[in-house]
Amino acid sequence: MYEKSIELLNRAVADELSAVHQYMYFHFHCDNQGIDLLSSLFKRTAIEEMLHLERLADRILFLKGDVILEADDKVESIHDVKAMLGWADRSEQSAIRMYNQFALECAANADSATKKLFEDLVMDEERHYGQFDDEMENVKRYGDSYLAQQAMERSRAAAAAGPQGGGVSKTAGQ
Ligand SMILES: [Fe+2]
Ligand SMILES: [Fe+2]
Repeated sequence: MYEKSIELLNRAVADELSAVHQYMYFHFHCDNQGIDLLSSLFKRTAIEEMLHLERLADRILFLKGDVILEADDKVESIHDVKAMLGWADRSEQSAIRMYNQFALECAANADSATKKLFEDLVMDEERHYGQFDDEMENVKRYGDSYLAQQAMERSRAAAAAGPQGGGVSKTAGQ
C-alpha cells in the first residue's frame, strides 16, 4: 500500500546523504581557509540534513520498508567559496522542488503522514536556501574582503589568546 511512499522516501534519503557529504566537504575547506562563519554554516546545515535523513529513515522503517543508504552523487571538489554557495543554492532549490512534488504525490496516495514529513522538510530547505542566498549576496556585495575579514578575525582571536592558543583552534567558532 505504501510502496510509492517508500520509494519517494528513499529518493529523499539519497539526496540528503549527498548534501551531508558535500556540506561537510565545504565545511572542511572553509575551516582550512579560516572562513569561520561559512565553515560553521556548512557544518550546521550538514547536521540538519543528517537529521532529515534520520526522519526519513524512521518513516521508511515504520512503513516496513528498508533504508537504501546510497548517496545520489559523488562529492564535487569545489574549493572556491562562491562556487560552494552556488552549489548550495542549487541543491536547496532542487530539494524544495522535489519535496513539494513528493508531498503532492503522497497526498494523491492518501499518505498524510509522509506528506506532512515532506512539507516539514520543505520549510527547512527554504530556510537553508535563504541562509546560503544571504551569504552569496554578502560575497557578491563585499567581494573577497568579506571572506578576508573572517580569516583576519580568527587570526586576531588566536593572537589575543597568547602563545598557548587559549583554546582557539582551527575548529573555533562552531
Ligand atoms: Fe534536507
Ligand atoms: Fe537543506
